[in-house]
Order: sequence, then C-alpha cells, then structure tokens
Amino acid sequence: MEQSESTVNNSLVFAVNGKRFEVSTIHPSTTLLEFLRSHTPFKGAKLSCGEGGCGACVVLLSKYNPVLDQVDDFTVSSCLTLLCSINGCSITTTEGLGNTKDGFHPIHERFSGFHASQCGFCTPGMCMSLFSALVNAEKILRPEPPLGFSKLKVSEAGKGLLQEISAAVLGIAPLLMPVKVLQQMLIWRIWGLIPFGERVIVKK
Ligand code: FES
Repeated sequence: MEQSESTVNNSLVFAVNGKRFEVSTIHPSTTLLEFLRSHTPFKGAKLSCGEGGCGACVVLLSKYNPVLDQVDDFTVSSCLTLLCSINGCSITTTEGLGNTKDGFHPIHERFSGFHASQCGFCTPGMCMSLFSALVNAEKILRPEPPLGFSKLKVSEAGKGLLQEISAAVLGIAPLLMPVKVLQQMLIWRIWGLIPFGERVIVKK
C-alpha cells in the first residue's frame, strides 16, 4: 500500500463479512469504499455520487456500544466513511448477506423475484438498507410476531429505502413490493408452500 508523509502507523483492526483485516499503514483520507473495492473481494458497494446522496455504497456497520453493552447496527455511506474511523467495527456488505456460493438472502430473492431493480448498480445498497431495518426492528420492544414474521413494519422498511428511492430512476411500487411481501413470504417458505425462486402475484 502507498506510503506518504501523512500516513499513520497505528494498526486498524476490523472485519468485513466476518473476515479479519489488519491495516498498519493507510493514508488518512482513504475511505471505506476505496478499501473495499481495492483491497477486498467484496465489490458490491459502488461509487456513484461520492457524496452521500445516492446510496449505491451503503454497507452495514456494527459497533460495540460499551455504555449500553450492546452492538449497534446502522448503515453508512462507505464513500464518506473514513477507514480510520472503523477500528474495532464489523462491516457487512451485500456479499455478506448472501452470494452465489452460499445462497442468496431472502432480501436478494425478493428484489430479484419482483424485478425491483433496473441496472442493479445501486441495488446492493438498497438490500443493505432493508437488512439494517430488519436487524434493528428485531431490537424494538414489541409483541413477538407470528413464527416466520419480522417485527419490521412496512412503513419503517420504506423509510430505510427512501434515500435510494429518491436517487434511483425507478418506479416506487416495484421497490416497495419486496418490502411488503417479505414478511409473509418468509413464513410461506418455511412451510414449504412457495419456493423463493418462484414469482408470486400479490393483490394490492
Ligand atoms: S456513492 Fe453515492 S452515497 Fe456513496
């Protein structure tokens, strides 16, 4: 990795999709996105606007909160996140959710099954936003949902996608459809009634 007068020597330790990384020399201005795309095999996060506006680079950041003694999970625009700021954190990209080798995540399946993307450039970021909404919904003190359902409400999932929706040249309906059906599809699949690869017509 390139060195200059402004490089720092303290080692950064973090994980990406469960894989440990230790970086001893890095330019302070290196972003998480630059690192992901240049030094890891995880290239799902993309560079588009480069200024936090489009969501194509969104990843999930998990960080231990010593005050609450819990792990906080939230999305970040990796194009604006300096690598030096993620020491001790865990990063999840769309490849960490699922991939061709290990199988796709239900979120991937829903986006694909309902044709919720056009070119697909920003879809990985949308998947991560929705995944973050799912993860955080499970932490909310609410009555337990029926088996196979999430605590996530459609309105909350929609908010999680608003940034990407506003930036994408897409119809909103196809994007919200995976959100609407995700909860009910999970239980249907668990029961073996409907395989994920099969498209399902859902009445409005
Ligand atoms: S590239 Fe557009 S938000 Fe990061």
